[in-house]
Amino acid sequence: MRASIGIAIWLAGLLLAGTAIPAMALAATEQVFVARAGNGLAQTPPMGWNSWNKYGCEINEQLIRGQADAMLASGMAQAGYRYIVIDDCWQVSRDAAGGILADPIRFPSGIAALADYVHGRGLLFGIYSDAGNLTCQERPGSRGHEYQDAAQYAAWGVDYLKYDWCHAESLEARAAYETMSDALRASGRPIVFSICEWGTHQPWLWAASVGGNLWRTTPDISDGWVGKARNIDWFGVLDILDLQVGLESFAGPGHWNDPDMLEVGNGGMSLEQYRAHFSLWAILAAPLMAGNDLSAMNSEIARILTNRDVIAVDQDPLGVQGRRAFKDGDAEIWVKPLANGAQAVVLLNRGESARSIRLSWQTLRLPPYERLDTLDLWTGKRVHGVTGGLDFELAPAAAVMLRVTPTPP
Ligand code: GLA
Repeated sequence: MRASIGIAIWLAGLLLAGTAIPAMALAATEQVFVARAGNGLAQTPPMGWNSWNKYGCEINEQLIRGQADAMLASGMAQAGYRYIVIDDCWQVSRDAAGGILADPIRFPSGIAALADYVHGRGLLFGIYSDAGNLTCQERPGSRGHEYQDAAQYAAWGVDYLKYDWCHAESLEARAAYETMSDALRASGRPIVFSICEWGTHQPWLWAASVGGNLWRTTPDISDGWVGKARNIDWFGVLDILDLQVGLESFAGPGHWNDPDMLEVGNGGMSLEQYRAHFSLWAILAAPLMAGNDLSAMNSEIARILTNRDVIAVDQDPLGVQGRRAFKDGDAEIWVKPLANGAQAVVLLNRGESARSIRLSWQTLRLPPYERLDTLDLWTGKRVHGVTGGLDFELAPAAAVMLRVTPTPP
């Protein structure tokens, strides 16, 4: 029997007997985890591209090379995107010695050659596996092969591992992720560790201490504005956003909440909604993993994904995740403190009709007499020396994003 189950049964017994719980006895029987020191990576939220949201299992080496090329040609690399990550379905089986094998038809040149190609473009290379014995698409997972797989990834030149949670129901989440984290460290190569267990076991409470650089906080995102909250069986931008409330204290340099990858440019939302999606992920200090076809983006989508001012909010060196500071029905205000005393603000209209939202300085935890300058990060409009607050008109399902700074004397 696992120690944690044993403790639970023991505590239940004490409670049923009406006995007070002796604190010393609890401490003495608690399972002891030793926190892993940070690996020094992901001091700001990772930025890159991942194959899953657009391509699912329809991936191959030409596609991945093409996305690496497009990362540069589209200006994404210049805006800060670094990682090219292959998600599920690159792997097909194991060899007689248990070594993981890539699909020889879709990846005939092998993973090492692909990593070299990506590195040759000045980018970093990521891959995907799973804590269970199968991945979500029933490819071989890493259960029982953690050290062997980590060593193989390092030999191939992998810089980032997304580690999923399908077929892992019988495992203890923290311990399973700890094993792969230790295996990655033992490989000797710096590898960003992306924990993908969908928030099931509150990873914000333990993922950083097992060496995770980011951890998913929710089920999978879909390319839509709102699903679950309307009893539709998928999570849109608003459903995912609602699950981030209160998680801000768990994020910081080297360890980030991950509200899942971007859907910007995949076609299911309006430009306003994609701007709102990107603004919200930036104010959440979320990893910015694009999930669209970078080789065929129109200029409006490219302008969203490469907006330097919005990216600077996400990548701000203070590394504080924004919080929901105001809510009135469909109107919300999210606020993120930035280095040097500035603040980023997202005003969000979740609803289907236009509405005005007032940004009061109180929401920014500032006195009304404070003089502030605002910069609209999407339109470039500046307002100087305002006191008290400002009113904004918001289109339906849209956001305004600002950088607010004290007016210089
Ligand atoms: C899970 C993950 C997704 C993706 C798929 C791949 O659903 O949460 O992000 O990796 O598996 O099968």
